[in-house]
Amino acid sequence: MGKYMYLFQGTAFSSKSSKEIEILKDYLFCINTDGMIERAVAPEDAEYQSLLDTYQGSDNFHRLKEGQYFLPGFIDLHVHAPQWAQSGTALDIPLYDWLNTYTFPLESKFSDLHFAQKVYDDVVSTLLANGTTTALYFATVHKEASLLLAQICASKGQRGLVGKVVMDDPEQNPEYYRDVDTKAALADTEEFIIAVQELAKSTKQGVYPVVTPRFIPSCTDEGLKGLGELAAKYDTYVQSHCSESDWAHGYVQDRFHKNDAFALYDFGLLRDKSVMAHCNFLDDPDVDLFAQTGTAIAHCPVSNAYFANSVIPVAHIHAKGVDIGLGSDISGGFSPSLFDNIKQAVISSRMLEDGVNPSLPAEERGAPGSRITIHEAFYLATAGGGESLSLPIGRIQQNYAWDVQVIDTKCPSAKLPIFDDNEDLHDIFQKILYLVRPEHIREVWVQGEKVHSR
Ligand code: GUN
Ligand code: FE
Repeated sequence: MGKYMYLFQGTAFSSKSSKEIEILKDYLFCINTDGMIERAVAPEDAEYQSLLDTYQGSDNFHRLKEGQYFLPGFIDLHVHAPQWAQSGTALDIPLYDWLNTYTFPLESKFSDLHFAQKVYDDVVSTLLANGTTTALYFATVHKEASLLLAQICASKGQRGLVGKVVMDDPEQNPEYYRDVDTKAALADTEEFIIAVQELAKSTKQGVYPVVTPRFIPSCTDEGLKGLGELAAKYDTYVQSHCSESDWAHGYVQDRFHKNDAFALYDFGLLRDKSVMAHCNFLDDPDVDLFAQTGTAIAHCPVSNAYFANSVIPVAHIHAKGVDIGLGSDISGGFSPSLFDNIKQAVISSRMLEDGVNPSLPAEERGAPGSRITIHEAFYLATAGGGESLSLPIGRIQQNYAWDVQVIDTKCPSAKLPIFDDNEDLHDIFQKILYLVRPEHIREVWVQGEKVHSR
């Protein structure tokens, strides 16, 4: 018997940098009892054969079949777990109306723990089946149901970062869906943080509390300030929406005479552990503030096409040193798959670069230099997400967690169009990113534990 918990043999794709991938062909991955990749051993390595001799044939040796590949598990930096219950609906109305007519009535139903259990069980399983091994969740204003979501992540083996949403401004939120008052919002948040930190002690893959002001329009100044203090006191993650749409961006300008980024900063909400969703309307000083504070961006390209009134210039912002990952933004984004968001990130960036109004001359139509490649979009869904959360996840590499998805390109019901046995692995990688569906995702592992198979 060898000393590793598992030995995996197969070909893996992982980001080398934001622009380049690394192909680890026929590697051995040695997983220790903490679920970390202790070693990644190349076929030309001296120990390759002796490791194989030791583990081959034992229960803890896993070799990929022909046509199967490892990808890092995806990191979804922005999911509204309760909104899974309305995914795919009401995408034809503006953000403000969508929140008030669809979203708040739905989220208010999560005071019912029985309903919450049904939806949260399903959304966590669905994300795992789509290859998402880590998710940064907004729950609802309800403390108990938010804790239930964290418990479901813990028990299903997903790395969950969960926030009880704060909406404490009685002027801005409907009576049927808001915190009782600011004091209660802060007390509930503190109790929630303590409960999730307790749950984390018995959760191998990690579960984390997140301070979560919904967005500035939902919160009082006192509430925002108190949340900043709680984030500092417990050293937690922070998440919110920032400069998402013309309306949301304009609201903060009217109230504080500054952009969201500086307003959030003033309340102590831009920290190294902060992840802000959307950020379409950041100007350069905002971007610099993000870089200085270590605040990351959850880029939500599918959702942005519906609600953000613009395409975020990710290439420009990333070049200025801000961490960026991808978010599904269920249900502003209809899809639970980061594969869909990878594609949309590329497509949207191409449309921003070329411009979209054919009545304009070509040279006035777009924003040159805006495109990102499929490799960069893959990086955002994996390593970029890991860097945004400052966790050792998102890469298949030594000292990273064994968070992977096994992609089967020969899945009988949906074979990928690979006709040449010696097709270049770079091309196979691109086919995977553009064409994979949940049925190709045979297994998903988080922290060395199998959490999904089909
Ligand atoms: N801004 C405030 N709340 C929300 C939400 O639930 N979804 C999106 N996309 N934007 C928001
Ligand atoms: Fe959102």
